[in-house]
Amino acid sequence: MKSALQTEVARRRTFAIIAHPDAGKTTLTEKLLLFGGAIQLAGEVKAKKDRIQTRSDWMKIERERGISVVTSVMTFEYDGKVFNILDTPGHEDFADDTYRTLTAVDAAVMVIDAAKGIEPRTLKLFEVCRMRDIPIITFVNKMDRESRDPFEILDEVEEKLALDTAPVTWPVGRSKTFCGAYHLANNAFRGSDSQVEATPVNGPQAVAGHLPENERETFIDELELAREACRPFDRQSFLEGHLTPVFFGSALRNFGVRDLINALGDFAPPPRDQQADSRTVHADEERMTAFVFKIQANMDPNHRDRIAFARICSGKLQRGMKARLSRTGKQLGLTAPQFFFASQRQIADTAYAGDVVGIPNHGTLRIGDTLTEGEPLVFHGVPNFAPEILRRVRLGDAMKAKKLKEALQQMAEEGVVQLFVPEDGSPAIVGVVGALQLDVLKERLKQEYGLPVDFEAARFNVCRWIEHEDRAQLEAFMVKHRAAIARDLDGDPVFLAENAFSLNYEAERAPGMVFNEIKDYQ
Ligand code: G4P
Repeated sequence: MKSALQTEVARRRTFAIIAHPDAGKTTLTEKLLLFGGAIQLAGEVKAKKDRIQTRSDWMKIERERGISVVTSVMTFEYDGKVFNILDTPGHEDFADDTYRTLTAVDAAVMVIDAAKGIEPRTLKLFEVCRMRDIPIITFVNKMDRESRDPFEILDEVEEKLALDTAPVTWPVGRSKTFCGAYHLANNAFRGSDSQVEATPVNGPQAVAGHLPENERETFIDELELAREACRPFDRQSFLEGHLTPVFFGSALRNFGVRDLINALGDFAPPPRDQQADSRTVHADEERMTAFVFKIQANMDPNHRDRIAFARICSGKLQRGMKARLSRTGKQLGLTAPQFFFASQRQIADTAYAGDVVGIPNHGTLRIGDTLTEGEPLVFHGVPNFAPEILRRVRLGDAMKAKKLKEALQQMAEEGVVQLFVPEDGSPAIVGVVGALQLDVLKERLKQEYGLPVDFEAARFNVCRWIEHEDRAQLEAFMVKHRAAIARDLDGDPVFLAENAFSLNYEAERAPGMVFNEIKDYQ
C-alpha cells in the first residue's frame, strides 16, 4: 500500500517547455492551462500585447521590449495528476536563468515549428536537457500551416539531436486539410482537443474519409510506412533520454494538445531522486528537502522582499514549518510559502516533492541554497556560467557608492548579474551572459534604488573560476596575477583576462591550474 505521501508525490509531473522563439510555447502553455481549468480564455490565444501586460507589468523593460524576463511557475490539475510547468525566459540573453530552471524539472516538452524544424535555440536547450538526462516529449506544432513532411521532421530530430524518435500519433491531413491525429499503437483517431476520448477505428482506411479524395491514398501509404519504418515507443529508453515520443498538432487550433497532456501524465516521470553531496535523496522520503533555483525581486518595488523559488525534492513542505538552510546552518521559518496558478499566487499550506513554492524572504535565501528538516546535506548542480560581457559600473554621484555596492550585491544574489570584486581594490565588475541583462540591471538600479548608472568597458573580457589541487599553488598564482584576480559573491576566486588568447597564454604557464567556465552554486 502506498502512503498518502507516496501517492501525492507519484501524481506530480514537473516539466518545462523548450522551444525556439515563435514556435508556439506561449500558445501551448495557455492551452495546457486551459485543460487544467487554471485559466479561462476565450479559446484562442490572447493578443501578445495583452499577454505581456497581464503577465508581469512590474518591469517596464519587459513591456517595452515584449519579452518575458522572469521565470514563473504554473500549476494545474488534470485527470488526477498535478502538473507544474516551469516557464523560462524566451530571450537568449537570459539563458543562464533558463539553464537554472531546467535543473528543477523532471521532463521537458520540446516544441518544434512544423515548417522550420530544429532551430538554434531548440538545439541549445536540448543540449542542456541532455546534460541532465531529462526525458523529452516532442510536440510538432503548427500542422495547420504549410509544413515539412513528417518523416523529414523525424529524420532531422534524429540527426541533429542524435535522439531516437517514436511517433505516437500521426497527422491526418496537412495545412488546410489537417483535421486530427491518428494514434499508431491504439488505432484510434482524435479530431480536435474538445474530443475527450479518441475514437477507436478499424485501420487508417476508416480515417481517410476525413480527407479530400486526392489525399486519401497517400495518407494510408504514409501511415503504413510510419508503422513499419518508425520505432515503437519504449518508455525505458525515453526515461533514459535516448528516445523521444513525438506528437503532431496545432496548439492554436486545438489539435494534439490532449494527446500531449495525456503523454505527460502517462509517460513522464514522477519527481526524480536527487543527488546530494552525502547521499541520494528519494522523492518519497518523509522528510522535506528542497533547493532554490531562482530568486525574483518582489513585484512591489516599495518593499525589498524577494521570492525564492524552491523545488521540493522530497517529502512534504508545510506552512509554518522550520527548515534548515544548509549554507548557514540557520533555521528559517516557512511562514508564507506561495503557490502560483497562472498569473495568481496563493498561500501554500502543503506542497510535495515535485512542487515549486515561492518563499518570500529579505535576502536570506540565495540561488543554489538547500533547505532540509535538519539534515546537513547539500544539493549541487544549479550552474553558474562564466559571463561573456564584463563591465564596470559608473555612478554619477560618488556619495552613493555604498548604496551602489549594496544594490549590486542584492542584484547578484538574485542572479540578475554576477558581481566580481577585484583583489587590488579597484571598482567592482559586473558580468552578464547577455547584453539585455545589463539593461535590466540599469533599469532596476534606477527604479528600485534611485541610482542612475552607466557602464564602461572593463579591461577584461573573459572570466574563469580558478582552482588548484594544491592550495599553495593557487595562492601563488593569485599573488602573481593580483591585478587580474577578483572574487565572486561566495568569495571564490576568478581570473580575469583581456581575451581568450591571454587566458590560454597564462593557462599554459600555470600547470595544474584549472580554469572553469561553469561553477555550481555553493
Ligand atoms: P512563443 O511563445 O514560442 O514565442 O510562440 P507563441 O505561442 O507566441 O506563438 C508564436 C506565433 O505563432 C503566434 O502568432 C501564434 O499565434 C502562432 N501559433 C502558435 N501556435 C500555432 C499553431 O498551431 N498554428 C498556427 N497557425 N499558428 C500558431 P503571432 O501572430 O506572432 O502572435 P499573435 O498576435 O497571433 O498572438
